Amino acid sequence: MTTHVTVIGLGAMGSTMAETFLKAGHRVTVWNRTPGKAGALVALGAHEAASPAEALSPAAGELVVVSQVDYRAMFDSLADVDLTGKVLVNLSSDSPSKLREAAEWVSARGGALITGGIMTPPPGIGRPGAYTFYSGPSEALSRHEETLKALSDVTYIGADPGLAMLFYQAQLFMFWSGLTSFMYASALAESAGLPVSTMLPYAQETYGGLAGEGPMGFLAILAAEFEARVYPGELNNLHMQAVGMEHVVHTFEDAGLDLAVPVALKELFARADEEGHGAEGLGSIIESIRKP
Ligand SMILES: NC(=O)c1ccc[n+]([C@@H]2O[C@H](COP(=O)([O-])OP(=O)(O)OC[C@H]3O[C@@H](n4cnc5c(N)ncnc54)[C@H](OP(=O)(O)O)[C@@H]3O)[C@@H](O)[C@H]2O)c1
Repeated sequence: MTTHVTVIGLGAMGSTMAETFLKAGHRVTVWNRTPGKAGALVALGAHEAASPAEALSPAAGELVVVSQVDYRAMFDSLADVDLTGKVLVNLSSDSPSKLREAAEWVSARGGALITGGIMTPPPGIGRPGAYTFYSGPSEALSRHEETLKALSDVTYIGADPGLAMLFYQAQLFMFWSGLTSFMYASALAESAGLPVSTMLPYAQETYGGLAGEGPMGFLAILAAEFEARVYPGELNNLHMQAVGMEHVVHTFEDAGLDLAVPVALKELFARADEEGHGAEGLGSIIESIRKP
């Protein structure tokens, strides 16, 4: 079924979203703060609105997809626009509290806000495997689910509008910290005069193992420990690992490398040890994370 979609924001993400909607056969209206970014989309059949008010006029249909640098940009762009009867789907990054504030802001202007965290860069939009965490009013999402599926799979998390970003930021934190650890490990290999490729197979085994089901499948093991709040440490206690983390810091220090992330981990491990978790397992560190 074809529909009309308005896309607000023509950065790398918004432009690709607008193009994807056009290729799926939808009618598309676009607006961007800085003019001059809609040429290729207009050539594909999009209508470029001269103002946010025109982009969100009643004639433009109900669905408005927003992709900007953050939610402040939406407040700036749509401050003077009547949102009566509109369903805004904001796929920008921000914090859960900002999304909750935004849901009230949109509602006070007569519209409904669906929040989303899109888990793919531009080349993945509209490709198999791409998915988006959505939260907010489920009935409004159901009404537009078929259209939104042009971008990615639709993964609904719940009615609290903050949830989309809670899941999105959690995923990004794992992604960024995991890859940053690999950067540190690679720099260590280089410091010994070895190509990074010598480290790669072991990194693949470690990261792959964490997500697996075997004895190294620590994601599933720790998830069960976190829910039970029990952290067996007989075979590898936290105190031993806190001392071991100091050795990691010394290793990076000896290699003349940056220490920011190793030292942050060392300090977290030491605090959990001091807070009485030394005889428990590594997973007990979550108790110190829960109580900063
Ligand atoms: N790129 C990715 O791989 C990726 C993946 C997943 C999610 N995201 C998220 O998707 C969102 C968009 O990312 P992007 O890569 O498209 O960013 P981008 O290329 O830097 O584009 C940013 C967009 O935000 C607009 N903008 C910024 N401040 C504004 C303001 N105060 N008022 C109105 N418009 C404003 C810009 O308009 P102007 O052209 O006028 O500056 C531009 O359209 C971000 O929240 C990002 O975190 C990105």
